[in-house]
Amino acid sequence: GRGAEKRREEGQQRREAAAPNPARLLPSRAPLPALAPRPPHQQAAPLRGPGQAALPVIYAITPTYSRPVQKAELTRLANTFRQVARLHWILVEDAAVRTELVSRFVARDGLTCTHLHVPTPRRYKRPGLPRATEQRNAGLAWLRQRYQHLLPPQPGVLFFADNDNTYSLELFQEMRTTRKVSVWPVGLVGGRRYERPIVEKGKVVGWYTGWRADRPFAIDMAGFAVSLQVILSNPKAVFKRRGSQPGMQESDFLKQITTVEELEPKANNCTKVLVWHTRTEKVNLANEPKYRLDTVKIEV
Ligand SMILES: *[C@@H]1O[C@H](CO)[C@@H](O)[C@H](O)[C@H]1NC(C)=O
Repeated sequence: GRGAEKRREEGQQRREAAAPNPARLLPSRAPLPALAPRPPHQQAAPLRGPGQAALPVIYAITPTYSRPVQKAELTRLANTFRQVARLHWILVEDAAVRTELVSRFVARDGLTCTHLHVPTPRRYKRPGLPRATEQRNAGLAWLRQRYQHLLPPQPGVLFFADNDNTYSLELFQEMRTTRKVSVWPVGLVGGRRYERPIVEKGKVVGWYTGWRADRPFAIDMAGFAVSLQVILSNPKAVFKRRGSQPGMQESDFLKQITTVEELEPKANNCTKVLVWHTRTEKVNLANEPKYRLDTVKIEV
């Protein structure tokens, strides 16, 4: 039960730094995520130990970038993740170097966390272009680098946890049993109260969506999880810049690794909303002083 899960989780709360050089698995034109070698005193905890084989690790890839609400968003997300057993957070900064704010945060968040960084090229920082492509790919590259040489089975589930969404704890229970690719409804997205895969006789047969229902997988980033095995056996599957239209990131990725017929509906055959695409309002800093600053420097 949850008590046992929690105790196992507590045994797993170790910090770890990144393994070197997953960059070679990125497409050649992508910038390389810079990674520090793992200090000996911070060796990764074995995520599969005695008595734990039954519970696959959930890898949550979260792209993040510097802005006034960043620490608040990460705090909220960490407070959710801390309640999930055997969750490994892969936090990927959009930055040329790891920032002090995020490094300090990671050092204290009490989670198994891998902190990566890769800058988005300037030419891609424009409205209308997909965001976080390089960061999600850096997370995928790290996973492949770390696990590709190990023999299957590699029980594990990956999902893309954007830092502004709201996650029910039930969602993690649902996604943990993902065999290949699982899907579920997402609330407050696509100009509707929710979007969802339409399920008949236990199979996905279409999409209830307010936007471009012709997409092969008309689903938000928050609406699916992929088994680690599928990620490893499709080493070239990445998020694409070239040839990807706005809003097609999810579809372009999923069609590289699965088919609609194969999808596993979760959340009671896709009839329950367990994740919400909430958005944080842009903060008003109009009264931030330019001179006569505060006498102490405070991180927000
Ligand atoms: C989903 O639908 C299938 C087929 O109708 C059914 O066998 C299964 O029990 C349903 N699953 C849940 C969790 O309701």
